[in-house]
Amino acid sequence: MAPSTGIKKIKTAVFISGTGSNLLSLIKFSKLKKSPISINIVISNNAKSKGLNYSKQFKIKKKIYNFKIRNLAEKKILLELKRNEIDLICLAGFMKILSKNFIDNFKGKILNIHPSLLPKFKGLNTHERALKNKENFSGCTVHYVNSKLDSGKVILQKKVKINKNETSKTLRDKILKQEHKLYPEAIKKIFNS
Ligand code: GAR
Repeated sequence: MAPSTGIKKIKTAVFISGTGSNLLSLIKFSKLKKSPISINIVISNNAKSKGLNYSKQFKIKKKIYNFKIRNLAEKKILLELKRNEIDLICLAGFMKILSKNFIDNFKGKILNIHPSLLPKFKGLNTHERALKNKENFSGCTVHYVNSKLDSGKVILQKKVKINKNETSKTLRDKILKQEHKLYPEAIKKIFNS
């Protein structure tokens, strides 16, 4: 991606489905003078996402789309993104799989954060699987999105030690804390800022 000039921020859409703690960390990051991005819209497939409250709190536009008919939802989203001149999409706990057609419309411009050390534990229930597999480490990954689930090029990863008495909840909380630092770091990395 072209490096940011530091003057004009890259208009970004954040896609969420739930709590939105990564959205909050991205909003805080975007407010820094040196941040290469501005967050111009929050998109959710779930009207009950707690994270939508942040769009209200920080006066960011929000849109909710029903993914029952994915093609239709994606068509509407693409129009909305165009209307808002969005140039970067950050998936942040977005639990729907986007179609190849959608991804092709934003080639190289969709990022995702995933709570494991990819390529290990793609998909759901990552923490449970890491524990079951008796891993010594887990972590989180920010990567580009391609049409294969959790398989795009890795941008940054952060490793986290799994302790003896670790539960999926303690592991989740520990990794989430790292996610909040890793996503902004990955964005800085790709825009050389
Ligand atoms: C985060 O741990 C994120 O990595 C994960 O969902 C959580 C969302 O938390 N994403 C995925 O599992 C995507 N496959 P948040 O809503 O508080 O940011």
